[in-house]
Order: sequence, then structure tokens, then C-alpha cells
Amino acid sequence: MSVTKVLGTLLTSSILVAAAGVAFDAEATPATVPAAAAARPWMNASLSPDVRADLVIKQLTLAEKVQLVHGTGWATLIPGNPIPKGWNYGAGYVPGIERLGIPGIHMDDSAVGVRGAANMSRYATLLPSTVGAAASWNPKAAFLYGAVIGRELRDQGFNMSIGGGVDLAREPRDGRTFEYAGEDPLLAGTMTGNLIKGVQSQHVMGDIKHYAFNDQETGRSYFNAVIGDRAAQESDLLAFRIGIDIGHPAGVMCAYNRVNGIYACENPWLLTQVLRKDIGFKGFVVSDWGGTHSTVASALAGLDMEMPGSLDGKSHFGAALEQAVQSGKVPMATLDEMDHRILRSMFMAGVVEHPVTPRRVVNPFEGRDDAEHIAEESIVLLRNKHHLLPLDAESVHSIAIIGAHADVGVLSGGGSAQVDAPGGNVIDPHAGGAKWGETVYFPSSPLKYIRQHAPHATVAFNSGADIAAAVALARSSQVAVVFAQQHMLEGMDRPTLALPDNQDALIEAVAAANPRTVVVLETGGPVTMPWVDRVQAVVEAWYPGIGGAQALANLLFGNVNFSAKLPVTFPRGEGQLPHPVVTGLTADVFHTELTDAQAKVEPFDVDYNKAGAAVGYKWFERQHLSPLFPFGFGLSYTTYAYSNLKVDADGKTATLTVTNTGRRAGTEIAEAYALLPKASGETYKRLVGFKRVSLAPGEAQTVAIPLNELCESIYGTQKHAFVRLPGTYTILAGPSSANTLLKVTFSVR
Ligand code: BGC
Repeated sequence: MSVTKVLGTLLTSSILVAAAGVAFDAEATPATVPAAAAARPWMNASLSPDVRADLVIKQLTLAEKVQLVHGTGWATLIPGNPIPKGWNYGAGYVPGIERLGIPGIHMDDSAVGVRGAANMSRYATLLPSTVGAAASWNPKAAFLYGAVIGRELRDQGFNMSIGGGVDLAREPRDGRTFEYAGEDPLLAGTMTGNLIKGVQSQHVMGDIKHYAFNDQETGRSYFNAVIGDRAAQESDLLAFRIGIDIGHPAGVMCAYNRVNGIYACENPWLLTQVLRKDIGFKGFVVSDWGGTHSTVASALAGLDMEMPGSLDGKSHFGAALEQAVQSGKVPMATLDEMDHRILRSMFMAGVVEHPVTPRRVVNPFEGRDDAEHIAEESIVLLRNKHHLLPLDAESVHSIAIIGAHADVGVLSGGGSAQVDAPGGNVIDPHAGGAKWGETVYFPSSPLKYIRQHAPHATVAFNSGADIAAAVALARSSQVAVVFAQQHMLEGMDRPTLALPDNQDALIEAVAAANPRTVVVLETGGPVTMPWVDRVQAVVEAWYPGIGGAQALANLLFGNVNFSAKLPVTFPRGEGQLPHPVVTGLTADVFHTELTDAQAKVEPFDVDYNKAGAAVGYKWFERQHLSPLFPFGFGLSYTTYAYSNLKVDADGKTATLTVTNTGRRAGTEIAEAYALLPKASGETYKRLVGFKRVSLAPGEAQTVAIPLNELCESIYGTQKHAFVRLPGTYTILAGPSSANTLLKVTFSVR
């Protein structure tokens, strides 16, 4: 490139950036004058994010360096707290460095959609829960999911998402199971990584959380997850590793709990050894809200940002950090490194070049269509005896719809993942956004859309509150569809896997009255189904989002074929779990479901070594247990045959033929597992690859499935690295973890 061209490029990008700086300056004081472009070399977008970050750091005063590493407080998260200037009503805010054109960081929770929209009379799309999206096994759906979140965050003036939950479903009663991506590190990491890519495609910083082992909510602020190095690396940390490798998130949120005796947010092994050295993460670590416990230990361990911090500088990373730097307890180089990671992430994601002001009205129609599309790929058909489904729109003459407020809406998950329902909670509209702990329904009415699909049928609703009335309706109807629900919420685990509120009895009674019963589950995760043999169809809809009812109706009537498969094992009962009772869940908590803070749970260990890396289906296989529904399982309206499995000599790709042997078009998820050589000490298989394949009736396709090398490896604790053991590997393939009839082997020398 010629000198004039280089100058020209520099000038153009500087002008653009200067313009961007003006547009962004909603928070600037009138005295702020954009500096001359030449004086802001870090604004040159052709330089690397690392170089740009270092150029900024050279300009920063100590106070500014400290300003960037903590937030301004709880604001509306704790009513009555001060609202700082420039704050955008999100979960967290770090003021920018206006004189240098560095914008503030406006963070918002956005696990399943943007949180807190009602605060400013804004709208946000409720997506299906992330565990549901993981059931699509479709990285493209995950990307779309993230893109919706990124787009709507940006519209509302936020430039960082703090979603991206990837904690493994070690404990399916975990109140946040709905915000995570299931039990397998490859599936969860792949889906979350692609979700983050989607967020960041909108020039919004992405995040992955809660690092690490925050796999239950009971005692989350105090419990100590005890786990060995290898088991840790091959389970939850592997999910983070894969997610980070794919998504390159700006941030990692460290968890509340302790890991092997040390709080996650001041744990040098987690934050420096594993995250930076082993995984190679280049972004910044932000503490979960209130999860910072120290100044010097945290900074030295690798924490970069304290959230939510405080306005008065009294937080661990406020004046205390400034003093620690002045006294040499925290080297200036460490503070510079913390700022570097934050600034390079901002440049990397493009939040400087693409300011989030002016705001824009969210497009609810686009969001709803995207949510419906993802829901159609998320909802799992678990049982379909006598082909009760799909319902025939022409011939069905009467349908009973029972329970779970299915006349008006669909359930959503609570806590910081709660999205505000447009117009308020559809079963109890009141002023303001959702209150913490409230069970919120969104206006997507299954009754309405089922009626639309069955114009010739009488479709009647019964709330299920009076079982006798529900039974009477079911008896007089051709088909009964019972909606059953389980609300999940951050801060409290489900005491059992059973459906609450006598719903099992309702289902039993309806099924006894009408064998043509379909159960639609709106649950955060796995539930037990004592009635399963007596109903003809079971559909797991998760929390299906704002397009949920339409998606569900399309699936029930066969306008769309089911394709989703379970990202979590459904146990027959708690006795099959590594911990039959959630560790630390006391009788009090059991009965009242108090939050852990209210229940004053004492510090305690959670023994993750019991299952080790054998999470979910691996545990079931190791213990010779047969689940209710296995990981990777899901039916469709057609059938598939698997044949001709091959694996290349180095075990990097498996190929197989999938044939649609039924009469409907469909999309099948082909799954590949590996049994490692004996020296691994493992007696269970691991998911190593998967692929979705769409097939017309009768069509056969040869599918190449890339096999993840990390999943074929064990973590060598001496070398701090994954290694493939020498020996024979068996690759198994089929439609679910419990049905892998095809087998081939390859060897590693
Ligand atoms: C949750 C985080 C959330 C944060 C901010 C915490 O209680 O654990 O997931 O991002 O609050 O709302």
C-alpha cells in the first residue's frame, strides 16, 4: 500500500471515528470537545485490538485506570440505590473515558432475552430457554439466538450482554437449568460459543458464565465445589473452553461459589492457570454481582472487573485498589493488564466504532419470528404412541386444553434471566416489570393457535384447578392436551424433579378419562413422569418463548416436523442422581423454597468428584442406570435409518449414511460418541460430534461429522494439556446416547 493510501485510510477511519465519537457523546459534558483524530491513534480500526488498548492505557491516569475496572453500583437492582449519571437501566455500568472517546460499558442480563425492558417502557423478545435452544443441536439456531439478543441490546443502548450461561446440568434441579445448555461439554460449549458469536455479530460484547462449577443455586454464595483437576478439565471447564474457542467472548463472568476452597473470583488456578494459560482467553473476567471478596488477592488471581461495584469508590476495585497499586501490593503492570483486557475486548467487539446511541425501537415482529423459528427446533417429542400426533386438522372434532394457563400464555423462567412480558404478566398484569420470584406468563396463547389450526373442532379450556372438571372435559373430548409446568428461578433449586402443585394427579386423572392424552411440558429442565405409560404423547416445550404457542401448534398439527433432541438426561427419579438430595438443601428450604440467603445456609462442600467428569448420560452409563429418557433422544413424524459408519485413520471425521425411511420430510440429528482406550479408566462413552441433516422422504445422505479432538482426549494433569491416549478408540453413532448401533474403531499410536 502506498503512503498516500495509508494516510487516506487512516484519515477516513479517523473521520468516521470522530463522527462516531460525537454520536456517542450522549454522556459527555458540553465542555468535552472531540480531540483531533491524529491525537487519538487508538481510534485507528486497522490496528489490532491489543495495540489500540495499549495506546489508550498510555494516556490513562491512575484514577481512570481504576475507573474502568469497577461498576457504579446496584442501581435499580436494589430499589433505593443511587442511579448514576449515564446509566442505561441495565444490570451494570462502567463509565467511559470521554476525553479519549472511550464509551462506557452498558451491560444487561440477556440470558433468554434482554432483561428489565419495562424500566424504560421498552420491549424485548423472550426467546425459548437456552436449554431448549440447545435441544436444537443447531449452531445456526444458537447464532440466531445470540444475534437477536445482540440486536435488541444494541437497540436499547447496551453494548455488553451478560448472558452466555454454560454451567453443566450436573444437578438437574438447579434453578438455572433453563438458562444453561445441558449436560454435555461439547453440545453446551458449541451452542454457547455460537450464541456468543451471534451477540458479537451485532458489535455487542458477549460473555460466558458462571465460571465455574456454579451447578446448583443452593448455597451458591458459599458452597465449595470439590473436584479434581482432570475431572474439572473434562467436564465444566471443557464446556467453557469450547465456548470460548468458538465465540471469543469479550468477558467471562466468574461465579459466586468457591472451587476447591477458594472463591471463583479470586481463584488463581481458575482465572490464570486454566483460563489464560490453558485455554488462552484474552478478554476480561468480570465478577458475578457481589462475587468479589478482596482487592489484592482478586487482582493478583486474575479478576479484571468488579461488578456491580459502587459509586462511592468503596468497592474492592475502587479506592482500595488505587491504594494497593500505590503501595505496590498490586503492581501497576497488573492494573494495566486488567485495563488492557477490557479495552482490547471493546475494540475487538467494535463497540467503539459502533456506538449504541441513538437508540432504536426494537422490532418485535422480527424478534417474534426468530423466537418462533428457534422454538420449532427446540421442542422435543418424547413419546407418540399409536401416532396420536400429529393431530389431523381436518378430522379432529373436539380438543380439551387443560392447565398451565394455556388459554392465555406460556411460562418463562425467573431471576436475572427474567424478561418483562409485553403488557405485563398475562395472568396478572400490574404496573412495572416482573418482580423477583414472580411466575410470569407471556402472551403467546396455545389455546388460540390450536384453535386456529383446527377450525372445524370445538377447542375448550379448563384450568386444571378442579381435577373433576378437567376430567369431565377430557372425557367429552376426542383428544386431551394437558399443559404441565415447573417454574424455575435463579437463587433456588427445585427440591425434587416432580412436577409441583398436584399436576401428576391431574395428568393421571385426565389420562384415565381419555387415553388420547398429550402432555405438553413447560419446564426448566428434566421432570419425572409417573404417568408416562398411560398417556399417548409427551412433548417437552421448555419455556418456549414469545413465539412458543405458534411453534407448538405448528408441531402438534404437523405443519412443522419435530427435530429436537434432549440436551439433558431425564432421570426416573432423584435416586438415580449423583446426589439424591441437592447438597445443602435443608428441610426448611425443601418446604419453603427460600432463597439461599434467606435460609442462611452454612458453608459446605459439594462433592463433584462423585460423578467427576461423568456428568449426565455418562453417569447413567457408568452406574448402569436406565433413565426415563436418555440424552440425545427425540422423536419425529418420520423415521431414520443409520448405516455405513466409517472413521478416518486419525479419528478426526466420521462419515455415515442417514436415510429417511418414513413418509414425511424431516431433519435428523446424527450423534457420534467415542469410547476411549482402557487406559482412560472410563467405562462410558462421550459425545464427540453431531450433525443435523435434512432429508426428504426416502432420501439418503452421507454425512461427515467432525469429531472433536478434545473430547477424544484426556486431560494430562502433569502436562496441563489434553492428550489423546495411545490405543484403540471405538466410535459409535446413532440417533441417541442410548441407541448407538453402529461401531467402528481407529487407533492412536
Ligand atoms: C447472577 C448473574 C447476573 C447478575 C446481574 C447475579 O445474581 O448470578 O447471572 O448476570 O446477577 O444481574
